[in-house]
Amino acid sequence: MKAIILAAGEGTRMKSRLPKCLHPILGRSMLDTVIQTVQEAGAKELIVVTGHEGQQIREAVKEPVTFVEQKERRGTGHAVMTAAEHIRPEDTALVICGDTPLVTPEAIARLCEQHLKDASAVTVLSTIVDNAFGYGRIARTGGRFPKIVEQKDLTPDQMEIKEINTGIYLFHGRALLEALPLLNTRNAAGEYYLTDTLEIIQANGLKADVYCAPDPEQFMGVNTRVQLARAAEILKRRVNEQFMLAGVTMIDPASVWIERGVVIGEDTLLYPGVILEGATKIGPGCVIGPNTRIVNCEINHDVEISSSVLIDSHVGAFSTVGPFAYLRPHSHVGAHCKIGCFVDVKNATLGDNTKAAHLTYVGDADVGSGVNFGCGTVTVNYDGHKKYRTVIEDNAFIGCNTNLVSPVTVKESAYVAAGSTITEEVPAKALAIARARQINKTGWIHQSQNKTEA
Ligand code: UD1
Ligand code: CA
Repeated sequence: MKAIILAAGEGTRMKSRLPKCLHPILGRSMLDTVIQTVQEAGAKELIVVTGHEGQQIREAVKEPVTFVEQKERRGTGHAVMTAAEHIRPEDTALVICGDTPLVTPEAIARLCEQHLKDASAVTVLSTIVDNAFGYGRIARTGGRFPKIVEQKDLTPDQMEIKEINTGIYLFHGRALLEALPLLNTRNAAGEYYLTDTLEIIQANGLKADVYCAPDPEQFMGVNTRVQLARAAEILKRRVNEQFMLAGVTMIDPASVWIERGVVIGEDTLLYPGVILEGATKIGPGCVIGPNTRIVNCEINHDVEISSSVLIDSHVGAFSTVGPFAYLRPHSHVGAHCKIGCFVDVKNATLGDNTKAAHLTYVGDADVGSGVNFGCGTVTVNYDGHKKYRTVIEDNAFIGCNTNLVSPVTVKESAYVAAGSTITEEVPAKALAIARARQINKTGWIHQSQNKTEA
């Protein structure tokens, strides 16, 4: 099967500089979503018809597809004519729109089954909706198939028809190639209607058929940002239900957003307000959220993360993160670690059993295992021009409110006294104290009062 995806629409109602089909829905553009759907449905070769923003679309699509540019937007029939040079007589050609991101591969597979079983020259995918306004209607005269009548061309009786054209079709290549040159623009919109190919194909003595699909929701088209949000809501529900059926608990699935491609293990619990993006992988038995965003991270099993943001990072088993922690790119946290509140980790490796319980910045650092960061430790990694690394070896103990001015090393099992500013290497098992010695001025309050009175 070959697929022709129509995406030359201007999308003026989106009121956007971004072409409509590139607007993301659950982390992936509508066009990429449709591309994936038709690939899953078995399409081997994809042709995307773009309009004037072709260049932007070409750059955004990573899948191997053929692009054709429809320079003038003269209707859906004209869009398919633009792609005609890529259609072979022996092809089975699927036509679908780039702005229907909810269509399932199953619906296309059913369409395919019926089309091939009945050896039709064209099969249209229809569905029954409550409000058919704006759609082409399937007009069956005397039980015979049919033609498709556009909204603008409806007769008063036809207004009542609730069976609509979803804009998805399967064509036999030869029948389509023979019908396209016979299209004309004699209709209310003055456009080449692809839908007219049905009548032409029948007039050529070939069979045109309809496959009426259940679940009309999936054929919803997106023309505005309101519809985009509504479609995203539906997709989110679908994705979340799959995760729940696979063993993930969600206290409030309506507030959980998971992009496709995310993996979550069994018995992981998601609190409200969890957002999981990109290639995130979460192991079993974790507790995530509330209000947590995780992007492209690998989270091992039995990890607890609360009210935090994690990007391009790794967290080992049995570790806890948050509340209010920030793991920035290239943070690698080992097993049984604690990254507590207001802890910011960036481009750093932390070995197993290492703890930074509160108010700490670990940036550009190589930290061993069993290290304890006192409250308020700062790796001073930036001199205004360059970044430097801090090395802290196994079982070191960093006292509260310490500055580690990098590049600097704290060797294995060393101690740093609270309040120190460390600028030189601390030897293994040593105690470093780098702060002014305390002076107590006994009776100072009386002396100072006497002065004031005098
Ligand atoms: C079309 C169908 C209608 C169907 C509806 C389903 C026709 C004549 N009508 O109507 O029966 O119910 O879709 O949503 O086909 N496009 C191009 N080039 C063009 C015109 C359109 O690429 O010159 C693309 C658009 O980007 C869009 C798709 O084709 O993805 C449908 O075009 P649109 O103008 O939205 O058609 P409808 O009026 O919705
Ligand atoms: Ca449309």
